[in-house]
Amino acid sequence: MKADPAPLPTIVVLASGTGSNLQALIDASRERDFPGEIIAVGSNRPKAFALERAAQAHIKTFVVDHTQHGSREEFDAHLMAELRRLDPDLIVLAGFMRILTEDFVRAFRGKLLNVHPSLLPAYTGLNTHQRVLDAGDSLHGVSIHFVTEELDGGPVIAQAEVPVLADDTPDTLAERVQQQEHLLYPIVVRWFCEGRIRLGAQDVLFDGAALAEPMKLAAN
Ligand code: GAR
Repeated sequence: MKADPAPLPTIVVLASGTGSNLQALIDASRERDFPGEIIAVGSNRPKAFALERAAQAHIKTFVVDHTQHGSREEFDAHLMAELRRLDPDLIVLAGFMRILTEDFVRAFRGKLLNVHPSLLPAYTGLNTHQRVLDAGDSLHGVSIHFVTEELDGGPVIAQAEVPVLADDTPDTLAERVQQQEHLLYPIVVRWFCEGRIRLGAQDVLFDGAALAEPMKLAAN
């Protein structure tokens, strides 16, 4: 008799909006050799389209509505309780537009990934596409990083660059950045589930060695 295969690492995705990154992860997770399982999708917005995408894929959903909680601490405590119940190996923030408390981040240290639409450490925070255009930069992109207490400041695992074109608007730039997000995030989640990346003291360990700089997705 064959032994049961080892259970796959479990993933919870948190998303506040459209969920195009969630969709990219769902699509990747359907590949036969994908080394993880998305067990639930959570949102702070009951009407987030991401929840519909999850339901379509028969993935369990949950909502912790931030408008129903008086403080950030109370919201995070509820979210933390949901996540503790699910006990995932990995929590993927995919357009989850809430700043998390230090307690929350510490509770899940090394298990929290985020996608940010800029070449970090440049342009932390919001409206990155507009700010890149205002600054006249010729290069923009996306970063996937471990979440630490510092907002958008955790060690960066991988980046993809996106050239800024002369006639770009925030929308056209956002669209090309998102195309790269959809390629890069599943790759990084795969690495995590395969045990290839870990959060070190202050850096990313890739196959056991500290990354001197973020991995770069080759331009396609
Ligand atoms: C993504 O472009 C992601 O980079 C950004 O939100 C978008 C969500 O899109 N995240 C942040 O700005 C985090 N600070 P999606 O809902 O279609 O995946």
